[in-house]
Amino acid sequence: MYRTHTCGELTLNEAGKAVTLAGWVQRVRNLGGMTFVDLRDRYGITQLLIDEKASSELKAETAALGREFVVQVVGRVVERAAKNPKLPTGEIEISVNKIKVLNAAELPPFTIEDETDGGDELRMKFRYLDLRRNPLRKAMELRHKMAYEVRTYMNNEKFLEIETPYLIKSTPEGARDFIVPSRINAGQFYALPQSPQTFKQILMVGGYDRYFQIVRCFRDEDLRADRQPEFTQIDCEMAFVEREDVLQTFEGLAKHLFDAVLGVKFEGDFPRITYAEAMKYYGCDKPDIRFDMRIGELTEAAKGKGFGLFDSAEYIGAISAPNCSEYTRKQLDELSEWVKRPQIGAKALVYIKVGDELKSSVDKFYSVAELQNFVEITGAKKGDLLLILAGAKKQTLSALSALRLEMGARLNLRTEGVFKPLWVVDFPLFEYDEPTQRFYAMHHPFTSPNPDQIDLFYSSRKEDLEQVCANAYDFVINGVEIGGGSIRIHDSKQQRRMFEILGFTPEAAEEQFGFIINAFRYGAPPHGGIAFGFDRWCATFGGSESIRDYIAFPKNNAGRDVMIDSPAPVGEEQLRELSIKINKEEKID
Ligand code: AMO
Repeated sequence: MYRTHTCGELTLNEAGKAVTLAGWVQRVRNLGGMTFVDLRDRYGITQLLIDEKASSELKAETAALGREFVVQVVGRVVERAAKNPKLPTGEIEISVNKIKVLNAAELPPFTIEDETDGGDELRMKFRYLDLRRNPLRKAMELRHKMAYEVRTYMNNEKFLEIETPYLIKSTPEGARDFIVPSRINAGQFYALPQSPQTFKQILMVGGYDRYFQIVRCFRDEDLRADRQPEFTQIDCEMAFVEREDVLQTFEGLAKHLFDAVLGVKFEGDFPRITYAEAMKYYGCDKPDIRFDMRIGELTEAAKGKGFGLFDSAEYIGAISAPNCSEYTRKQLDELSEWVKRPQIGAKALVYIKVGDELKSSVDKFYSVAELQNFVEITGAKKGDLLLILAGAKKQTLSALSALRLEMGARLNLRTEGVFKPLWVVDFPLFEYDEPTQRFYAMHHPFTSPNPDQIDLFYSSRKEDLEQVCANAYDFVINGVEIGGGSIRIHDSKQQRRMFEILGFTPEAAEEQFGFIINAFRYGAPPHGGIAFGFDRWCATFGGSESIRDYIAFPKNNAGRDVMIDSPAPVGEEQLRELSIKINKEEKID
């Protein structure tokens, strides 16, 4: 037996017991005659004591120990003289009689403690060392608990976990596919799924009316803190349901996870807002509603008074930052530079300090009564600082959204440990793209139109189609899009119309989606579903904006796995077998 206990469980209850532990040497402290060793495993840290009276052999073995050596120790549990209340094992130590080195280790390239000196790339290259650190261990534990609780809830709700293939044909979700060459079908390629969307719909046609899967998805898109090229979804679909059934079922899942994983209980329903409201009041479709600071529109009230920036603007909007009316010139200049950064892209920042009197950067153009009107429209209170941006509507709303989040963070209103989930509903079904002069599906081409707007869906007028809302919904927690889904089209006529609007010829639709159009001919039940970004949900619960630490082996920002050094070239022979010729001289843009 390698060990009788783990390094995280011994307390005074075991005092006097003979024990055997195994783990990694985190630290060795030699205090003259006595040596202390911190022994670590997945469960915690236990202090080892090799005292003055130890045999010279044991002392020599201890002296040879280095960081991250794997050892087995035999000893007795004793009460510590200096207790450490921060450690669960902090009241005891092991008085060691024997140490056996199971494996020596080279000096690790960074310290393996809660706070490490290793940079991101280094820690990713030596991921196995980083995984030994507490923050990552906790992240992996949280992820496991989430997956376990998802399965518990879904099983209780009679969902079946069914696997769908990874080697498929491209599904249209908007990102690029990763493709895999087929050796036995020369010149042909599989695509890795961006999601199991079409398969889960076909499972509904197959009669499996409640499906879920915790499943890997692959998207060749630009990476960000909340995006990985391979990530995991909790993918779900239900038949014989309307939107309300789906929302209720998955609000139930969310409440179960909040409770079982975080011990957070929610009374009542999660709030719901429409896409239009989200854009109007928060400037984005995934608002962080831990704080209010809603956007107020000033376009009508502020235009036409001779102030060029406003007069030429399509849209003028403001947020009021609470208790910031005393901002200094320097602070305002800094904020003004902040909104002008290319990532935010505002032209200028206009402010009104709502103090005993109103002080603004545009006093010249507006009377006190007019400024007062701005204050009223936005609901600013005494002590607030009104921050106003103007320009093209879409960009200005997006800049206001970024400014709102930034002010929320600066004012500590995005409190860690506070969770505000919500549903965003009634998304537009289509987005019109001017450069290509065509409609794109805002969600995906299987999303059904709002049942009240079917007439508009069959209209040939662009303005009508722009009005059509999708029977779709997103789930958002603290400003993070955790999941999204929709009620699907289950009628082949509607599906054909959808492809037509999206610019597919009947032949192209048949070629790409023939399998699902065909399946719909054989009795497709009404159905709908949702998929949650599992990594994002874990990171949000863990209080992190980056999903990387919740994935055991993530890719870096260039899409590389720096530990295994992938992607990498393959040999000529392998390429020949796959009938692939690479012309290294020719670079394709
Ligand atoms: P969607 O594309 O909205 O919907 O994806 C669902 C959720 O998956 C997460 N997500 C990601 N997480 C990490 N890295 C990525 N690159 C990434 N891309 C998406 C997000 C997102 O909300 N088939 C539909 C769902 C459906 O209609 O049922 C779909 O995939 O949290």
